[in-house]
Amino acid sequence: MGIFVQMGRKAAKSLHQVEVFVTLGSGMKRVVVTGATGQIAYSLLFRIGSGEVFGDEKIALHLYDLPGMEKGLEGVVMELQDCAYPFLEEVRYGSDLKELFSEVDLALLVGAKPRGPGMERGDLLKDNGTIFVEQGRVLNQVASRDVKVVVVGNPCNTNALIAMESAPNLPRKNFHAMMRLDQNRAMALLARKAGRSIGEVSPLVVWGNHSATQVPDYPNASIGGHSATEIINDLTWLQGEFLTTVQKRGAAIIQARGKSSAASAANGVIDHVKSLYNPTPEGTWFSSAVCSDGNPYGIQEGIIFGFPCRSSGDGSYEIVPHLPWNSFIEERIRVTEKELLEEKECVEEMFV
Ligand code: NAD
Ligand code: LMR
Repeated sequence: MGIFVQMGRKAAKSLHQVEVFVTLGSGMKRVVVTGATGQIAYSLLFRIGSGEVFGDEKIALHLYDLPGMEKGLEGVVMELQDCAYPFLEEVRYGSDLKELFSEVDLALLVGAKPRGPGMERGDLLKDNGTIFVEQGRVLNQVASRDVKVVVVGNPCNTNALIAMESAPNLPRKNFHAMMRLDQNRAMALLARKAGRSIGEVSPLVVWGNHSATQVPDYPNASIGGHSATEIINDLTWLQGEFLTTVQKRGAAIIQARGKSSAASAANGVIDHVKSLYNPTPEGTWFSSAVCSDGNPYGIQEGIIFGFPCRSSGDGSYEIVPHLPWNSFIEERIRVTEKELLEEKECVEEMFV
């Protein structure tokens, strides 16, 4: 494992290929990012390092990638050094999961194979699933007992489920799959259609699976303090083009770029983490896929499902109850729930 330690402002920066442990005391967030040489990480790491997420709290970044990626990791570390971020206290990197997951407060599980053109995210289920068995088990052994885990690697809901089931000693509530990119896509599309600024669009929940069955909740969204349906006043668009554009946005980007979304995905992770570590404004919520155990909407238990969440700012969250469903939304929620139950059935044999 490599480590670069920047102790305060005075110490020289150094890059050692040795195993060193440095204890810097409390008041520091220890964050691991997997797939650290990948395209999402290339955007994500620098935004975390900049202090954008945790303000003036010190940060230790742990960068994990597969054996064979050491050169790439060294390059990323050099660039992190060259940013001279004042709050980035320490960087560890390498391919030793146990070392790199040790005592982490936040695990951003990005590393996995992306889908190519013509594939659905679910096609990655078996290949990528095994990654999350191993990572769940190691988190279970060595991470902070209150680690928050955000899974980005696809199919992220079921990968998060696999990680959660592989980590029986960690709170099930602490596992998330990222729906924030979907929320951001939906909000931006509503703003463009209404000809309003994005700041006028309320956050909206994207129910269910991060897949083509996801359900962006336009009926409970508002624009400039009025119902989105009133402002846009075009149900055919809201129930048709709006829904399918958000559901298929990932595929459209792959078609256009030849690669899956990266900067916007990293931005989704940043927004997700900020939402967990800042109090949610009164009367609003954010989208996250979390464990459905005991949920107030009657979704079957034991899956990772997109719900409206709010946080008191300490990294934990509650599911916001009582958002009404009309029959259009409810019908589609049943479809996305069924898909997640089917995905679960495909991977159940991997659970501990
Ligand atoms: P990428 O191919 O650029 O990078 C993937 C990284 O993961 C590489 O560094 C690779 O070495 C690493 N990796 C591969 N197998 C691994 C393993 N077993 N353990 C740890 N790391 C491993 O991909 P990317 O564009 O950064 O995307 C990463 C994942 O995120 C993909 O699964 C992609 O589909 C997903 N994604 C999710 C969302 C979302 O909204 N949830 C959005 C965009 C992309
Ligand atoms: C996205 O939504 O952009 C990602 O999940 C990548 C993909 O495969 O669609």
